[in-house]
Parts: sequence; C-alpha cells; structure tokens
Amino acid sequence: MNIFQESRCSILGVLLVFFLQGSCADPDVEVHKAVGDSLELIADYPKKDLEVLWRYNDTTFAEYRNDDFQKVKSELFNRLKMNKNNINVTVTDLTLQDSGIFSVVAESKSEMYKTKVFVLHVHGSCADPDVEVHKAVGDSLELIADYPKKDLKVQWRYNQIAFAEYQNDDFQKVKSELFNNRLKMNKNNISVTVTDLTLQDSGRFSIVAESKSEQYKSKHFVLHVHDLIREVKIEDSYFWLQSKNLCMFHLRCVASGDQNLSYSWISPQTQGPQLNINLSLTESATLSCTANNTVSVKYTTKTVVCTDKSEVQQFCVKS
Ligand SMILES: *[C@@H]1O[C@H](CO)[C@@H](O)[C@H](O)[C@H]1NC(C)=O
Ligand SMILES: *[C@@H]1O[C@H](CO)[C@@H](O)[C@H](O)[C@H]1NC(C)=O
Ligand SMILES: *[C@@H]1O[C@H](CO)[C@@H](O)[C@H](O)[C@H]1NC(C)=O
Ligand SMILES: *[C@@H]1O[C@H](CO)[C@@H](O)[C@H](O)[C@H]1NC(C)=O
Ligand SMILES: *[C@@H]1O[C@H](CO)[C@@H](O)[C@H](O)[C@H]1NC(C)=O
Ligand SMILES: *[C@@H]1O[C@H](CO)[C@@H](O)[C@H](O)[C@H]1NC(C)=O
Repeated sequence: MNIFQESRCSILGVLLVFFLQGSCADPDVEVHKAVGDSLELIADYPKKDLEVLWRYNDTTFAEYRNDDFQKVKSELFNRLKMNKNNINVTVTDLTLQDSGIFSVVAESKSEMYKTKVFVLHVHGSCADPDVEVHKAVGDSLELIADYPKKDLKVQWRYNQIAFAEYQNDDFQKVKSELFNNRLKMNKNNISVTVTDLTLQDSGRFSIVAESKSEQYKSKHFVLHVHDLIREVKIEDSYFWLQSKNLCMFHLRCVASGDQNLSYSWISPQTQGPQLNINLSLTESATLSCTANNTVSVKYTTKTVVCTDKSEVQQFCVKS
C-alpha cells in the first residue's frame, strides 16, 4: 500500500530554497517537512551502468548498483522504502532528529554526475496535540477512526509501527505481531481495540488517515498503563514521653502496586504517607489513609491506643 504521510501542513508544505554554490554539485536544496512526513530521494539519471549512493551526514544508508539495491551495513534508517523502477529511496515517518544533510551521489562507468544535496529541516507536525490516556492493567484502549468513510484509508501505529490497517471498506492483514490476539477490530465504527493492557503497552499510538482527496489530521494518544493499587495498610510506632504523659505516634501509610502514588489522611487531614499524632494516656484514635494513583483508589483505617508504658522510655513497634 501507499506510504501514509501524516498530516502535512500546507503552510509548511515543501519549501525549496536554492543557493548558488560551486559548480561540481547542484546547489543545496533546503527541504522543509513535518514530523511523520516522508522524504523522497530520486536518482533520475540514465540507468546504464548507474551506481548511486544515498547518504545522510556523510554516512551511506542506501546503495544501487548492477540494476538493483544493495545491502548496506548502516543501521541509520529502518524506515526506508526503495523502488527499483524509478530508483527512488523514501525515508518515511520523519522525526525531528532526521534534520540533516542528505545527498545522492551518482556515477556511471563513463561519467560522474552532479551530486544532489538536500538540507532537511523537520518541523513539529501540525497534527492535533497528543492526548494523554491513563489506563489500568487489564483495561482496553479503543482507537476510533471517525473520519468520512468514503475512500478511507487508515493506519493504526504504535511507536511508529503499523499494527492495523483499514482500506477498501475493510481491515487488512498487517505483518506486525504487535498485540497479536489482543486486537479487536470493528468495521462498523472503524475502531481498533487493544485489550488486556499491560504496563509495557505504555507508548504512543497514532491514527493516520487519508482519503483519495484528503490527508486528515493524525491523532496521537500517549498511553500510560498503571498498576492498580493492590493493598494499603497503616504501620504505626510510638514513643512514650513520660514527662508529658503522652504517646508520640508515628504512622506510615504503605500501599503496594503502582510506584507513583498519592497518600492522604483524614482527621487530621494531611497529605503524604507519614502522619504524627500525640495521644494522652488511654486515649485512642481511628485514622484513615487513602492511597490513589491515576487509575485506582484504596483506603484503610486503623485504631491506635496510647497505653501505659511505665518502664523507661522506649520505642515500641507494632505491626
Ligand atoms: C518513490 O517511491 C515511493 C514508494 O516507494 C512512491 O510512493 C513514489 O511515488 C515514488 N516517487 C516517484 C517520483 O516515482
Ligand atoms: C546531521 O547533521 C545535522 C546538521 O549538520 C545535525 O544537526 C544532526 O544532529 C546530524 N545527525 C546525526 C544523526 O548525526
Ligand atoms: C464500536 O463498536 C464496538 C463493537 O460494536 C463497540 O463495543 C464500541 O462501543 C463502539 N465504540 C463506539 C465509540 O461507538
Ligand atoms: C506521578 O503522578 C503525578 C500525578 O498524576 C504525575 O503528574 C507525575 O508525572 C507522575 N510521575 C511519574 C514518574 O509517573
Ligand atoms: C507531640 O508532643 C511533642 C512534645 O510536646 C511535641 O514536640 C510535638 O510537636 C507534638 N506533635 C504533634 C504532632 O502534635
Ligand atoms: C490522586 O488523586 C488526586 C485527587 O483526585 C489527584 O490530584 C492526584 O494526582 C492523584 N495521584 C496520582 C498519583 O495520580
């Protein structure tokens, strides 16, 4: 299928600025692209005995020789599309970091062609801003492509890798093993649902869509999957201050599950996992602690009593 290009701003468009330079190379061409766009580097030279190198900042990342593309060691771009027929290399899914100098170096047995140099500037995309989505482990994430249905082509991507595709009024097979049997597709509302979310699913999901006549704005969702809070308990210890006849309690609220938690206490109302209170002899207090993260809340209470510790000052720990 065609390369999907993320929403391309007409304002950014492709702006070409030519600078006159020395005579052995064509002048540098400044190319402006948006994040997610593609950069096409065509070697439109006579095909006879043609050898071409495509370079990025002086590292070769594609090579054409003996009428075919050759293996190149460089790991530079794993987002390349090569087309033998028109000797065309396309870097897809441009990122801000791709900004740099691309060149197409070509020669035949009899001739060294002028090198073409493209100075690529990748700009922030004009897609809608990322939507932050918080989910709990085991939840589902539904990604609906609510675009006009006519001639609609949609790609769902996870961290830039396509994992679902819709075209010709139906979902298409996609090679990706991502989410495997956790994907549910629904033709009626053109939605893809990832079920049984795991912590590792946290990442950036995109919906890229186009029709024959229009490139729609891409939608991006940054998914944060959180653990549910499994258990919360109050630990307490106290110090018997004989001179004042009181117990100085130190309480700690401890929750397991997620790392990033908020704690709060009621009566006395405080924030944070720790609480200190003083009780006079035989006085008791019932304390409540609430732990929450973005996706869950758990709450517990405990009653503590100040008992006579007539012995010397000591530190008692109760479980
Ligand atoms: C270059 O190749 C890409 C896909 O590989 C194709 O979409 C594009 O139309 C080609 N460009 C030209 C000018 O042939
Ligand atoms: C390529 O060169 C440009 C400017 O010359 C630089 O900003 C960019 O970081 C370089 N990229 C890499 C991957 O070396
Ligand atoms: C899309 O369709 C599926 C299956 O019928 C349904 O579960 C889901 O709620 C629909 N989503 C919306 C937003 O209508
Ligand atoms: C922890 O949660 C708070 C509130 O939801 C959030 O602002 C913060 O970025 C989170 N920190 C980490 C490391 O996830
Ligand atoms: C408890 O009493 C001690 C001694 O009077 C005092 O220093 C401390 O601030 C009191 N703590 C609280 C939480 O009231
Ligand atoms: C806990 O809930 C409070 C109030 O709703 C919220 O402000 C806070 O961000 C939550 N904590 C975390 C870690 O999400």
